[in-house]
Amino acid sequence: MHPEIARIQTMLGGEGYVADREIATAIYLSMSLRKPLLIEGAAGVGKTEVAKVMARALGADLIRLQCYEGLDATTALYEWNYQKQLLHIRLTEASDRTVEQREHEIFGEDFLLKRPLLEAITREAAPVLLVDEVDRSDSEFEAFLLEVLSDFQVTIPEIGTIRARTTPYVVLTSNRTRELGDALRRRCLYLWIEYPTFEKELQIVLGKAPGINADLAAQVAGFMQLVRQAKLEKTPGIAETIDWGAALMALHRDHLDRETIEETLGVLFKSQEDARVVRNQWLDLWLRGLERLRAESRPWSQALVERVAAEGALRR
Ligand SMILES: Nc1ncnc2c1ncn2[C@@H]1O[C@H](COP(=O)(O)OP(=O)(O)OP(=O)(O)O)[C@@H](O)[C@H]1O
Ligand SMILES: [Mg+2]
Repeated sequence: MHPEIARIQTMLGGEGYVADREIATAIYLSMSLRKPLLIEGAAGVGKTEVAKVMARALGADLIRLQCYEGLDATTALYEWNYQKQLLHIRLTEASDRTVEQREHEIFGEDFLLKRPLLEAITREAAPVLLVDEVDRSDSEFEAFLLEVLSDFQVTIPEIGTIRARTTPYVVLTSNRTRELGDALRRRCLYLWIEYPTFEKELQIVLGKAPGINADLAAQVAGFMQLVRQAKLEKTPGIAETIDWGAALMALHRDHLDRETIEETLGVLFKSQEDARVVRNQWLDLWLRGLERLRAESRPWSQALVERVAAEGALRR
């Protein structure tokens, strides 16, 4: 492995983020080429967290733009501080400055409310700009974003063009609720994050549920692999796994059995329909899968869990 990529991996690991080689490489390239990194993947696989740990590891500020339907350029870029402008007009009413002068004053930088994009551009030290869930914004906003990400400059009619002092590190995430345009994709480096392998999830659980015993952590990670073979409305992500580990510890459980799992279903499955299907269709199969894994003498691995899942017809 390239020493720089290994260094990134260690740096992220130090911030509690388990990055496989592919993720570490994408982050490294995005940082060294200063190209935005577009991350896609299912819910809860660790997309947003990449930007957060990158900022921590770099000692940079994190500036987050949360996207939603109807988000428009002004909300993302800047707004005029209307109240402050009004106040200023009041206070200068008695002055001998002309109306033009006073108008000019209130459209200066002091009266600007910087929103995330302008904020990111005007920082002295390069921040990490997280454009989270960009698929939720509409395509007009996407076009505008593309412009900003191309030039790192914005034009405010009353003030003029503001250019970035340093190019921010940019991370965009998407859950693919709609396809992003080609133009935006071309501007970015791309990373697809899969659900974690058994090994990766085990490492995450051990890191994020401190004090958990290694056996229970392996059972949790193995069970999650079985769970993700099933077709559910909302497949649990890594956040659910971590919560589950913490819940099991809070209940002082040191292994998984039917009762324990049934008691804690609400930590993993967040819809009534899924909870019902799990109880009626899957739980028995998963428990049987877990038994088979326990009967193995070798340490568990992704390959082993997959084979058990295939043999037990746990897939659908
Ligand atoms: N590789 C990892 N190492 C350590 N923790 C992780 C990793 N991936 C995810 N997590 C943890 O899982 C949780 C969910 O991650 P995150 O919020 O980044 O997911 P997401 O892909 O952005 O999900 P969503 O699509 O729902 O926004 C976080 O608490 C994060 O700390
Ligand atoms: Mg997210």
